[in-house]
Formats: sequence, structure tokens, C-alpha cells
Amino acid sequence: MNELSEKLPQVLANFGIYGEIGAQHQGPLITEVEFELSKGSKFATVEKLIKDIARELGVSGIRVAEIPNSTFISFELPNAQPQSVPFLPLTEQDVFKNAAYALPICVGVNMRGVPIMKDLSKMPHLLVAGTTGSGKSVGLNSFILSLIKKKTPQELKFVLIDPKRIEFSMYNNQAYMLRPVITDMSIASQCLAQLAAEMNERYTKFEKAMVRNISEYNEKATVKMPYIVCVIDEFADIMLFDKTVEKQVQMLAQKSRASGIHLIIATQRPSVDVITGSVKANLPTRLSYKVASSTDSMTILNTTGAENLLGRGDSLLLEENGMLTRILGAYVANDDIMKTLAPYRCEIKEPEMAANTVVISGNNNNVTVQQTVNKEEKKKGFWTKLIDWWDRIGRRRQNQIINWLLTLLFMAFKVKNAASKARSTETAVRKITTTNRKKTQRR
Ligand SMILES: Nc1ncnc2c1ncn2[C@@H]1O[C@H](COP(=O)(O)OP(=O)(O)OP(=O)(O)O)[C@@H](O)[C@H]1O
Ligand SMILES: [Mg+2]
Repeated sequence: MNELSEKLPQVLANFGIYGEIGAQHQGPLITEVEFELSKGSKFATVEKLIKDIARELGVSGIRVAEIPNSTFISFELPNAQPQSVPFLPLTEQDVFKNAAYALPICVGVNMRGVPIMKDLSKMPHLLVAGTTGSGKSVGLNSFILSLIKKKTPQELKFVLIDPKRIEFSMYNNQAYMLRPVITDMSIASQCLAQLAAEMNERYTKFEKAMVRNISEYNEKATVKMPYIVCVIDEFADIMLFDKTVEKQVQMLAQKSRASGIHLIIATQRPSVDVITGSVKANLPTRLSYKVASSTDSMTILNTTGAENLLGRGDSLLLEENGMLTRILGAYVANDDIMKTLAPYRCEIKEPEMAANTVVISGNNNNVTVQQTVNKEEKKKGFWTKLIDWWDRIGRRRQNQIINWLLTLLFMAFKVKNAASKARSTETAVRKITTTNRKKTQRR
């Protein structure tokens, strides 16, 4: 058992926290120690003191969490010898084999070592964050490989965007790819516009076929529609290159759920200029690896805690329903990728791109992106455009404009006051002059 768990009651007592130790569960990375607080003690007090408790125990990365529907809380103490969980053996387990989801992904194992499978189509998009070296790219590879292991190239296509140029290079020339891996940021934003156009095209087809989503369409149609998963490793690079991608991501994230187009977006910079309010609001499912500060953790998960993770795949998953689960990502070695991809090698060409026309391969859909974008813009009314513009300009300019407006209002008020004063003085003067004149006339 974990040595720290023996020291824990004494250390807690030093801080005036008393209670009973319960069951202990050792996982690959941490040991969960259940603890029942003495009556009247507050969980929030323990949560506040967690850094000091960790210091007294002589380790970093301790986490405390409430156990749902239980009187116990759980201390997560790091193991002296953490173990990694290799990806391929996980795919041999029944949990993986039996996962009958539309887009099953293995996010890793829970703190007791049990594999966790999730359905990307239900998420319906995933935002991944973590400091450099925390395990984002390894995680993204495990999600891509899980999907490849469960779906055929006819059922699923990938669009991979890799500004760093090295993370996804082995996926080039794979039957699963809609187009070669994108490393040029100007093509990346064009490609997102292309996906938005594809989404609209799909909805037109659904309308004609009188179905509501891709699974209903595929049940009816003879030519099946593939799911499209777009993975971006380092969203900050695209956002800083071209701010308009925010709009495209927002549009896709808002509307593409039923069309079978899903986004997985990763970034090592979870600052508010990269993960803006509108991006965040549209990506409710988030996975945070270790982050640099509690502020970053707040940005991603709306709570602190990710700054205390241990790195190397240790992560917290926030689901759409607000549930937070600690997960250890599966480790994917380069050999695992090569082995999984070997049967699907084939030549994938760059799709043709005319000035405003982009062809999405795989479906033979010729879509004029600019036209679709223009149509969307025209449909918007004045107030929607104004609200969009207000969202876009950022908080600093919003404050500036509010200040200007208040100053203007104040000045207008002052001018109005001065004018009415001048008018009343003028009237008074006129009255006095008239009375004086009358008096003189009488005399
Ligand atoms: N799940 C894991 N299990 C064990 N080791 C891991 C795991 N994930 C990552 N690592 C280790 O951490 C290293 C860095 O991981 P990775 O390249 O995924 O980080 P990253 O977050 O993508 O960093 P960057 O932002 O610099 O691209 C890996 O080379 C590997 O040694
Ligand atoms: Mg990386």
C-alpha cells in the first residue's frame, strides 16, 4: 500500500482535520484513500489546505475530491512508482471491443485502472488543453487510433491539422484521410470553412431525405455518408494566424452535431485570447492535462485542480453534464501507430482548390465555400451582426466604448443643463428690462 496513506491521518490532525480512513484503491498512477471526516468538518476547508497537506507529506500533486452519494471524501496520493498504461493491450479488453458507439474513443483508464470509453458523437466535440509535455499529442493519437480500430475507412474520415508538422506526419497516405495532413495555416482556415460548407450541404441532403441526423440518413441511403473528425493539434497557432477561424469553429461546434462532423481541438495555451468565450461555450466537453496555473485550470474546467496533476497523461475530463473524472491517458508509442495504420496505406491527393471553390473528396460534393459563407452572412439581421461585432472586439475595447458613451452622455447632459440655465437667465433679464421700460413710460 501507499506509504503516504499511513502518514495522512497524522498530517491531517496537524491541521485540525479529524476522521476515519476507509478503503484504499491502488491504481497505476495514484492510490485513492477514502476518508470520512468527523461530524461537522467541512470539505471546503480540506480543499483549501491541500497544498499545505501535500507539503507536509513531502510530495506534490495531491488531489482531494468528494465521492458522489457517500459520506467519504477521497485523497488521491501519487504512487512512488507510477506506471504507464500501454494503448494496444487496452484495445484487446472487452470494454473496448463491446463499445457499440457511433464514434467510440478510449480516453484512458480511471484511477483504478478500468478503461474508460466515450462516444465522441455525443460529446459532440472535445477541447483538450495542457502545458507542453503533459501528454496532449499522445492523447490525440490514442483517440485517433481508437476510432481507426473500431471504424472502417468508408465509415470515418479524418482531417488532421498539425501546425508543428511532426505530430501527425505518419497519418499521411492513409485510407482514413480526407486530405493530406494540413501543416499550412492558411489552408487550415480554408479547410474549416470547407467543413462548414460540407455541414450545410449535409443538412440539405437530410432535409430532402426527411431525416434528422447522419445515422438516420445512413440507415435509409444506399450511398453512406462518412463521419468526419477534424483534429487540431495546437489551436493557438491557427487562432493567432487568422482570427476568423474562431467564427468557423463556433459555427461548426454549434451546428455540426447531427451532421456527423466532430472537432477535437488541442492547445497548450488555454488563455482567453485562444479559448474565447464563444469557443468555450460551444465545446462543453473538455479534457485538461496538467496546466501551468490554477487560472488555466479555471479557463478549461471552470474549477481549479488541473495544475496539481502529475503530467505524462494524467488528466481531468469534464463532461457535458458537469461531471469531472480523473483519467490516465493510454500511452501510444510510434510503433503502435505504424502497426495500426499499416493495412490502410494508400495515396491521398491534395483536393483541387479553385479561387472560391473547394472540393471535399470522398463524397463528390462540389461546394462553393464563399457563396455559402456569404449566404450565411446575408441571412443575419442588423442586431445579430451588431452582437457578433460586440463579441469580436474583446473586453478591453468594449470597456473603452462604454467609457466613451458614458462621457458623451455626461457631456450632453451638462450642455443641456447649461443651455436651459442660459435660457432661464435670458428670460429673467428680458422680464426685468420690460418692467423697467414700463416704469419709465409711466413716469
Ligand atoms: N499517457 C502517457 N503515459 C506515459 N507517458 C506519457 C503519456 N503521455 C505522454 N507521455 C510522455 O510525455 C511526453 C510528452 O507527451 P506529448 O508529446 O503528448 O506532450 P504534448 O502535451 O503534446 O507536448 P507539446 O505541447 O510540447 O506538443 C511523451 O513523449 C511521453 O514520454
Ligand atoms: Mg504535442
